[in-house]
Amino acid sequence: MTETQLNKAAEKFKNLLQLQAERNEKIKQTKEFTDYTALDKIVIGICTGDGIGPVITKQSAKVLMNILKDDVEKGKIEFKYIEGLTIENRVAALKAIPDDVLEELKSCDVILKGPTTTPQQGDGLPNIESANVAMRKELDLFANVRPVKVKEEGIDWTFFRENTEGAYAVGSMGINVDDELAIDFVVTTTEGTERIARLAYEFAKNNKKERVSIVTKANVIKTTDGKFLNLCKDIGKEYPDILTDEWYIDIMTAKLIDKKRRTDFKVFILPNLYGDIITDEAAEFQGGVGTAGSANIGKRYAMFEAIHGSAPRMVTEGRDKYADPCSMLRASAMLLSHIGYIKESEILEEALDICMFKEKKLAITGRDTGCTCEQFGEYVTETLEKLLE
Ligand code: IPM
Ligand code: MG
Repeated sequence: MTETQLNKAAEKFKNLLQLQAERNEKIKQTKEFTDYTALDKIVIGICTGDGIGPVITKQSAKVLMNILKDDVEKGKIEFKYIEGLTIENRVAALKAIPDDVLEELKSCDVILKGPTTTPQQGDGLPNIESANVAMRKELDLFANVRPVKVKEEGIDWTFFRENTEGAYAVGSMGINVDDELAIDFVVTTTEGTERIARLAYEFAKNNKKERVSIVTKANVIKTTDGKFLNLCKDIGKEYPDILTDEWYIDIMTAKLIDKKRRTDFKVFILPNLYGDIITDEAAEFQGGVGTAGSANIGKRYAMFEAIHGSAPRMVTEGRDKYADPCSMLRASAMLLSHIGYIKESEILEEALDICMFKEKKLAITGRDTGCTCEQFGEYVTETLEKLLE
């Protein structure tokens, strides 16, 4: 490595530090969460994404619009379609989220977002950041809340994945120091950690969950994971009725498949990357990532999406019409409860439980051996209507 290369890398690193210090100051400024009940009108943005996104988002938008139709008529709810968050537009603008799309997103209160394609090394697309990751950062959606439930097995987990920091904070700004040495960075801030920990403990308290498990790899990633763990434990001390335990991510991924132990876990708090990985594993017990929704919560905005990606292979193989809409429907139920429509959210969850687990009149297989996405969407709508009668 030459002196010039070293200095250039140090300069880039300094720039990253400055940007993160600025972000740290900025996130401390928003203190209160939006009170949706106090708004005259709640604007729900619908962003269909790409790959299987448009097909699955269409079904959940239809269901949401149906549930909320009375309040749409009264002007309390407005749906707003946001076009343009497609891989083609993003590549053309060379931006994770084109400026005009971002502006529209910011004019909404909550967003239902279909999966979006993320360019990766070697696929010939420019190195633009994932639209999910960018949206989480731009709208400061710091908590990724991912529930997984398998009632008959006693599994009732809620993952609180930190959503704007960790390995993701500067994930597309790592440094190739020279041809041989590449470095990435992990970020933990006090505010970023305390706010996710508090949300998780408040959730545990309000939902009578007796245990919160903090999951890190603080024995190896000592500085950032160590800070995360210690701050979460400090917040935990404010909740003496809740049992706090701490785990390393490797053994926790093992414990999730230990039938005797896994039902002990209730609420998890994790840094970004571990939360990403373990929630795919967890969703598998419930029927796969196609069944799992996720809430991205910030103080001002919130966005609801599937936990999976855009499955471009299903599109190239002509199977997109068989995609499973349940992840987006679960996300829609979370959206409803977040904006204060608790009863409607519970009814939608119940309709999904009936269609997915209890009655199972139709099966989604991802191919022509099962029903189409649209047929399943209609099945959920009919079930919902019966419950609402
Ligand atoms: C998720 C996804 C995203 C993530 C990808 C698409 C960038 O896997 O929401 O879990 O890593 O966060
Ligand atoms: Mg993931």
